[in-house]
Amino acid sequence: MQIISNPTQDEIKRAAKALKDGSLVAFPTETVYGLGADATNEIAVGRIYSVKGRPTRHPLIVHISSINQLDKWAIDIPGYAIKLAQEFWPGPMTLILKRSDNAKNYITGKQKSVGIRVPNNSVALALLSNFEKLGGIGIAAPSANRFGAVSPTTSEAVCDELGNYLYSKDLILDGGQSTIGIESTIIDCTKESPSVLRFGAVTIEMIEKFTGFKIQKNCNQNKIRVPGLMRSHYSPKAKIEINTIPKPGYGFVAMASISTPNGVIRLASPKNIEEYAQVLYKALRDGDKRNLKIITAIAPEGIGLAEAVRDRLVKSSAKDK
Ligand code: TXA
Ligand code: MG
Repeated sequence: MQIISNPTQDEIKRAAKALKDGSLVAFPTETVYGLGADATNEIAVGRIYSVKGRPTRHPLIVHISSINQLDKWAIDIPGYAIKLAQEFWPGPMTLILKRSDNAKNYITGKQKSVGIRVPNNSVALALLSNFEKLGGIGIAAPSANRFGAVSPTTSEAVCDELGNYLYSKDLILDGGQSTIGIESTIIDCTKESPSVLRFGAVTIEMIEKFTGFKIQKNCNQNKIRVPGLMRSHYSPKAKIEINTIPKPGYGFVAMASISTPNGVIRLASPKNIEEYAQVLYKALRDGDKRNLKIITAIAPEGIGLAEAVRDRLVKSSAKDK
């Protein structure tokens, strides 16, 4: 496996070719890093599952370069989904739509729907357009971490997570730190009205504004398999405690306005909620690198992105694996 820092256009072209030839390419997105494979190559997609250690019934998101590619993957797209795609793509939003014939069982975990996203990152978009020039139609990419672990927001974190499992021809494209830092909002668009399966930077308020629908929260009826909905997910090795008083030796994540208690190891001091989302996973990883046993996180208050951050904190604090 090779890491390519600040990839040139030629290097991105080479990565697109590697994907087309069946290799895996990890790449930056604005949310978290993805582990990519040609979404029409069953063997390459199978390797995503083995590299991640992920059960094959969990579906993958297909990444495309623009809304123009949507018809290749989805059918019967409702008007509200088109509105969302026009407004928020490229961006941190995944739409779950009725699948077309291109979306095979090995992508969708045998479900009749498929998850689609246009990421907003220059390296990812260049990779997608070069891949499409070679005849590809989409890149399947889950977050580039082992199953159940914290998503990577840097190429170093991808290497730490998956370096031992990748082949020599696989690539990791470096694109610096992910700007948003938590995974995309997932919106189920297979029914008459949208529902949110995973909170993210496209917030409930934004979706309501652009679709005119009132969004129900936590409306998953356990029929749809979304690993991010399992209680224990996004977990570091350290135990995460939310809003407890940290003891000396604990790691500590809280807004900058909250001071660090004596003897406690500060892992992040975000100044606002956007920064909280951006640094959270890196802070949890740093805690693990320092072998901390317990990390206290003071959850951010408020709606919007704060809700998405709280959701990730709650899931990473659940130890039910
Ligand atoms: O921000 C993101 O979404 C990142 C970047 C790389 O794009 N990707 C990501 O992928 O977080 P992953 O596989 O780690 O999480 C995607 C979630 C999974 O929980 C999966 O179950 C759900 O999307 N998903 C994918 N297709 C689905 C479908 N057809 N129905 C319901 N959930 C689906
Ligand atoms: Mg993931």
